[in-house]
Amino acid sequence: MFLTPYPHMLHGADYNPEQWLRHPDILRQDIEQMKQANMNCMSVGIFAWSALEPTEGEYCLDWLGGIIDRLFENGIYTVLATPSGAKPLWMSQKYPEIRRVNAQRVRELSGGRHNHCYTSPVYREKVRAINEQLANRFGKHPGVILWHISNELQGECHCPLCQEAFREWLKKRYGTLDALNEAWWTAFWSHTYTDWTQIEPPSPRGETGVHGLTLDWKRFVTHQTCSFFENEIAPIRAVNPELPVTANLMGFYDGIDYRKLAKLLDVVSWDSYPAWHSQKDGDETYNAFWSDAFSDYCRSLLGKPFLIMENTPSQTNWQDVCRPKTWGFHRLSAISNLAHGADSIQYFQWRQSRGCAEKFHGAVMTHANRTDTRVFQEVAGVGAMLKKLDALCGACTPAKAAILYDTESHWAVNAAQGPRNCGIGDTDLMLRFYLPFWKAGISADIIDSDMDFSAYDLLCVPMLYLLRGDVSRRLQEFVRRGGTLVMTMHTGLVDEHDLCFMGDTPGEGLAALAGIRYLESDPLYDGMEERMVLVREPFPMADEYRAERLCERIAAEGAEVLAVYGHDNPCMPDDLPCLTRNKVGRGTVYYIAAFPEEKFLSDLLIPICESLGIRRALDAELPHGVTAAARIAGDGTRFVFVMNWTREKKTVTLPKPMKDYETGRVYQNVLPLAPYGGKILTAAAR
Ligand code: GAL
Repeated sequence: MFLTPYPHMLHGADYNPEQWLRHPDILRQDIEQMKQANMNCMSVGIFAWSALEPTEGEYCLDWLGGIIDRLFENGIYTVLATPSGAKPLWMSQKYPEIRRVNAQRVRELSGGRHNHCYTSPVYREKVRAINEQLANRFGKHPGVILWHISNELQGECHCPLCQEAFREWLKKRYGTLDALNEAWWTAFWSHTYTDWTQIEPPSPRGETGVHGLTLDWKRFVTHQTCSFFENEIAPIRAVNPELPVTANLMGFYDGIDYRKLAKLLDVVSWDSYPAWHSQKDGDETYNAFWSDAFSDYCRSLLGKPFLIMENTPSQTNWQDVCRPKTWGFHRLSAISNLAHGADSIQYFQWRQSRGCAEKFHGAVMTHANRTDTRVFQEVAGVGAMLKKLDALCGACTPAKAAILYDTESHWAVNAAQGPRNCGIGDTDLMLRFYLPFWKAGISADIIDSDMDFSAYDLLCVPMLYLLRGDVSRRLQEFVRRGGTLVMTMHTGLVDEHDLCFMGDTPGEGLAALAGIRYLESDPLYDGMEERMVLVREPFPMADEYRAERLCERIAAEGAEVLAVYGHDNPCMPDDLPCLTRNKVGRGTVYYIAAFPEEKFLSDLLIPICESLGIRRALDAELPHGVTAAARIAGDGTRFVFVMNWTREKKTVTLPKPMKDYETGRVYQNVLPLAPYGGKILTAAAR
């Protein structure tokens, strides 16, 4: 399954020729230099609106046409952006209503970017008009392979137009104010609405305590962003419905429910900026796993490969400390992106700006304008590697394990007041579940409540605070059919309106499914710990483990107790369970009541995978800091990627001879890995 009409791995960058229109010498050099960097695509026009429409209604597309033509003549394809991510000043000045109003209800001044009102009919019309111009002129250009819609869609607007649209959206959702008042529990503190006009989005100056309102506002922001997006793509689809569209996502950004946005995309792409080299000992494991987790999330969104739309070839300019990727590291990070499902490596940006906010951001071409720099050479090396990887393009990553991470539940659990206001840690817990899979080289999807569970043998449900739709029924069905479910504390406490379930929880039958009952939650201050003591090992495990943050007290009601809390508090009963197991139908449910240390999860989850026959990318013990992942190509070739995230040399004992895909060298049983080294191996399909 290819992502674009150009069936090759993409290698390219954000290219902003509009900054260089007065420097034709630079524009001429660009093409030659891009070819030397082994690039085959450029993302063009992302912030070019004032060059494309310098005054209202006066469109200047010729310069862009010239660029797209010249790129194409030189074998470089265009990912064509719509420019809505930054609005021209003439437009902000003439139509102040297109400027965003913040949660304090203050309208922003002109400037910056990513700050338009997504409801404003004027802005929507302007976007539609420029997109129509672009689509009419370039929508069927043979050099254009993908639409890049806006840039990193984000944020919210509280202007009167958005507020009115919110009220209309609520009217459709609830029908009557009575229904809304009931769903939002507004009798509390006398917040009953008696007229629709009284409803305003949450604000630090106003309402923050009506959680149903907070949740619906976030849902509305996603809805309105998607509707803005639909307005953007309508003129594009009208010209050429075949040309795919993408939007570039940001790692674990939670202002929008990406699952909903993804339904409008043909291709998912994301911008990967881990804080590389932030660890004194040079161990990059914890930076790498965050990036790979989001790659796996992106891969799970549409169940197919995705694009890395941006990463820096060297350093950013916005992290606390902007360290450049060290020698050889760029190749390793690229291999890891590919390993987790990327069909491209693209950069921000091709050429460093001379002025303004990003003049010190890393780029392939720096101000020195030389191709003999280390960064350029390493980028060209990655390009050369990608040229050999046509067979990987479109290759899939079948996963038998998944982690459920639901954005709406995430919003709700973080908006709730209590039990731990300094950070409930649901995302950390999800990542802690992901880590053992990643370290062992077991591919895991990251999915949400609406997604189909039937492909999985193991489903982890960490802190699914809010239950919506028919998720509880489907979880029960998953178990009855033989699935293994691992649930944790703080699951199933509220319904889709953030109203607490009455009766036993986890609600909607999940307590009975797990064979336990929630009693109370005991959050811990940072630095405090409790002990989880194994009384009956489901697998060979350590005698005890540490727990932190949130320790829930539960009663076993049918489930076997596998671990209890340590008896450090003389007042606490000594048989309080913190890990249970319940057999239901052909399946099994584990319930983890405490927020466990990482080792606990790996000691539990990996043996579960083994017992279920869930295979690793490589049947080998991986030393610390070495990870592996696999993808299977259409012709059955199994690509195995092995990455060393440390500054030390490592070796891996291979289960069978494997071939280095790039060099053709066969490793019989020992695979040597250089410091920060990565290898792409192949073996026959299993
Ligand atoms: C991204 C953005 C780019 C550029 C980059 C710098 O978030 O999409 O336009 O600003 O950051 O790292």
